[in-house]
Order: sequence, then C-alpha cells, then structure tokens
Amino acid sequence: MRVRVLGSAAGGGFPQWNCNCPNCDGVRKGTIKASPRTQSSIAISSDNINWLLFNASPDILAQFQRFPELQPGRAIRDTAVKGIVLMDAQIDHTTGLFMLREGKVPLNIYCTGMVHEDLTQGNPIFNVLEHFCGVSWHQVPTAPGSTFEVDGITDIRITAVPLSSKAPPFSPHRHDPHEGDNIGIQLEDTRTGKKLFYAPGLAAIEPHLLPFMQQADCLMVDGTCWTNDEMRALGISEKLSLDMGHMPQSGPGGMIEALGRLPAARKILIHINNTNPILRDDSDEREILHQEKIEVAFDGMDFSL
Ligand code: MLT
Ligand code: MN
Ligand code: ZN
Repeated sequence: MRVRVLGSAAGGGFPQWNCNCPNCDGVRKGTIKASPRTQSSIAISSDNINWLLFNASPDILAQFQRFPELQPGRAIRDTAVKGIVLMDAQIDHTTGLFMLREGKVPLNIYCTGMVHEDLTQGNPIFNVLEHFCGVSWHQVPTAPGSTFEVDGITDIRITAVPLSSKAPPFSPHRHDPHEGDNIGIQLEDTRTGKKLFYAPGLAAIEPHLLPFMQQADCLMVDGTCWTNDEMRALGISEKLSLDMGHMPQSGPGGMIEALGRLPAARKILIHINNTNPILRDDSDEREILHQEKIEVAFDGMDFSL
C-alpha cells in the first residue's frame, strides 16, 4: 500500500490567511525554519494506478497539481481517484468536493449516515452537487467487526471505527454527539497484512480504539495542538484543543505519552494547527518528537507500507 500525504495542516492551513501568530508570520516572511502546509488529506493506492482519497480539503486543486499521478491522462476527461472517504463533515475535510463538480459520473463518496445528514442539512454540499456531477453515496458501516472495500481499490480492507468527538458547528446535532460524527480508519493491505490507522481528529484514545492502534504498523494521528491552551496563550481564541475534539501532544495524558505505549514502526502526526511549535523544524518540541521517534507529516510525504 502506498500512502501520499496531500495536506498535513489542520483547518485554516499554514499559514492561515488572517493569522499573525509567530508560526504564520514567520513562515510568510521566511524568518523561521518551516514549510507551508495545506489542509489535511491523504491518498492511498494498492497498485499505483487507482487512488482512494481520505477527505476533500478546500486546497484539493493545489494538492492535485502537486501530485500528477492523480491525473493519468488516459482520456479527454479522466481521474485516478476512485472514491473519497470522509472522516467527518468538517469544512476542512469536505468543501473540496465542490472543486470536483465537473466530474462526468457521480462522485463515489464513502461516509457515515451522520456525516451524510450534515452534508445534506447543516451544510448541504451533496444537495448542491446534485446540480453538477451528483453524488453516489456509500454508507460507511461502524458496527464492531464490519469492514468495507472500494471498487477499483484492490486488496485493501477498510474498517471504520467511531470516535467520540463533535459534529461541526453547523450540524443540527452539534451539542448532541452521535456515533458516526467522526471516524478513524484502519486500512489493511490483504496481500501483506500491513495495517495503517488514520485518525486526523482524536479527542481521546478510547478503549475500543486500542486494539486498532496496537495492531497498526503505521499510525497517522491527530497532531493539532502541542498544549491544550495553545490558542488561548497566543491570544487567538478562547477555544481549548480538547473542546475542539483534539487531544494535545504534550503533558500527562497527551498524545506523546499514548504513542509511547504503542509498538507501531512508524508514528506520524497529521492535521497540525498553524499555532503548533512542532511546525518549526528546529524547535525544542520537534526535538522531543524526534527523541520519541514520532514524525511530523508534511505535504508530499510519500511512503509504502
Ligand atoms: C477541526 O478539526 O476542529 C477543524 O479543523 C475546524 C475547522 O476546520 O474550522
Ligand atoms: Mn479539522
Ligand atoms: Zn497562525
């Protein structure tokens, strides 16, 4: 299985258009050692021909341009994308669907019933797309033991694991969490048995997630904030990382501690907020991750599993 990081930043990207935090200001001016990043999405393939996307970021067109393998050029209109799995209904993971409206066949979209509800009600992207290419919705099962496959993506078994997090602010059930608002994904290459666990939004490592995380050869997990009050400390927002459904990396009960107990050969943080000091290649926080053998995803990161 090949994995390509199309985008590695959290909502807003890096730099964020209206932000002058030390990271955004520094990367814009070229005064810090850091690379810009687009909003989070990955693509996977089992044959290097057909690709499955996880999330459709608002930056999707730039991401496609930087990864020409998604356009094989076999016909006057063509794409290598066989389907798109949505991890939640958040803006940074779904609004890129509008950019794919020129498709000649309905977009093959895999998401839970709850995400489908949000994308036909609170933010009715699917309804709008009916006036263009249309949507072919495949309901992602979340019952324990259920798996699914995507046509054209051979030898990859997909398991969706429900996560306790929050529905987006525009959801009719924002304050009333439902199973399926957010999912993590296990991808198993059935030829090699290798497993990837992908969860760009993780509020807590709940007991039912542990077996998936313990089995994983590669973990790609929530890298949003270093500290819970990161945005508050910078005077940006009163929102805490945990309030937004993202467990911070540092401190007791943080992501670093949790990853330290897991045997995966590769541990990668993705969906990194622009305020996070790990974005600086030479920061102390980055050095701590290095010691812990935890990697920081970047746009264009590409590996096989
Ligand atoms: C989140 O994961 O909390 C989102 O990135 C928020 C957003 O896109 O506005
Ligand atoms: Mn997000
Ligand atoms: Zn910023």
